[in-house]
Amino acid sequence: MSVSAPRRIVIFGITGQVGQELVDRLDESDWNVVELVGVASADSAGTTFSFGGHDLDVTAEAPPLAGADLVFLCTRQVEALEIVRDCLKAEVACLDLTGAVSAQDAVPLAYSPADVTATAPLLSIPSPTALAWDAVLRAVAGDGAVVRATGTVLASAAARGRAGVVALSEESIALFNQSESPDPGPAGQGVAFDVLPGADLGRARAELGRSLGEGVALSVAGAEVPTFVGEAASVLIEVEASTDLASVAARLEAHPLIDVVADGPGSRGLVAVEDGEPSPVGPTMRDAAGESGVQVGRLEAEAALGEGTAFRLWLSMDPLRVVADHALAIADARLTAS
Ligand SMILES: NC(=O)c1ccc[n+]([C@@H]2O[C@H](COP(=O)([O-])OP(=O)(O)OC[C@H]3O[C@@H](n4cnc5c(N)ncnc54)[C@H](OP(=O)(O)O)[C@@H]3O)[C@@H](O)[C@H]2O)c1
Repeated sequence: MSVSAPRRIVIFGITGQVGQELVDRLDESDWNVVELVGVASADSAGTTFSFGGHDLDVTAEAPPLAGADLVFLCTRQVEALEIVRDCLKAEVACLDLTGAVSAQDAVPLAYSPADVTATAPLLSIPSPTALAWDAVLRAVAGDGAVVRATGTVLASAAARGRAGVVALSEESIALFNQSESPDPGPAGQGVAFDVLPGADLGRARAELGRSLGEGVALSVAGAEVPTFVGEAASVLIEVEASTDLASVAARLEAHPLIDVVADGPGSRGLVAVEDGEPSPVGPTMRDAAGESGVQVGRLEAEAALGEGTAFRLWLSMDPLRVVADHALAIADARLTAS
């Protein structure tokens, strides 16, 4: 059966960042959505969301699931397990984007449409961090194995949900106006004009462990930076079999999720302020905003760690866009297979 067949879709977390991005991508797709139910918390009762040129009501109570073809789960993890149980009871296929079940071996972790089976009642969508790192590591290693990957993720305020973005905005405005600081947001402390050491990467580490296996030594650190959107990382990858920089670049370029950005002006078309001055470098976090691929640049060999076996790169992405595009591709495979 193809996805052009009429589809009844339910999205939990429709008013959140991931839910909104998913609706926008669904709206742009060629899916024949005959019913879209958008669910959020009681706080969103009486609000609407836009789809197919119409304003649709947000549902604040758990809707009946029987008869739906697919449920997308985009709430916080804390709400997710009960909804998963309801989907299983109603025998409706569920795609979980929250990571609530991504550590359970019985639940397929869908890195690729090839991981999807026709009968899977529940599929877990990897976090954007795991999707991006998995793609980059595999492309750098080629046919060989990754030995070790070490890096630092820079996460924006959006990693803490819409409330994180609102907190950064309100704090920034208060600082500019020299007015009293608002109460801290979900970070539990001020975030504006500051960098917080540490970021919640437990989910990404576990999901990468599942995809790469125990043979790969993985060390992922993080920091929260005061940008509104995006995620970036500096990554050092060590591989078993010696390879050269040109081959690594070619494999990165050939990967469907990766856009290699040459040194020089970023995608926003920045130019040097004065002739003879160095060009701005990318890919920056803003360069990647709204882009569907993972932007990779600053690729270099790290000879100090081994000739042809260690490479450093920088990646930048729009995690909301990356995860929404991926979830739709997996949903497409799941519905087509059934
Ligand atoms: N942010 C990212 O970059 C990112 C990327 C990939 C995956 N994720 C994961 O995706 C999930 C959503 O992230 P987000 O950034 O979109 O968070 P968010 O902006 O805080 O959105 C949370 C959504 O959940 C809804 N919700 C809360 N309680 C609910 C309930 N009982 N029933 C139904 N809906 C309920 C909220 O509704 P109200 O508006 O009514 O509160 C809102 O729509 C999280 O699990 C996150 O870990 C996030």
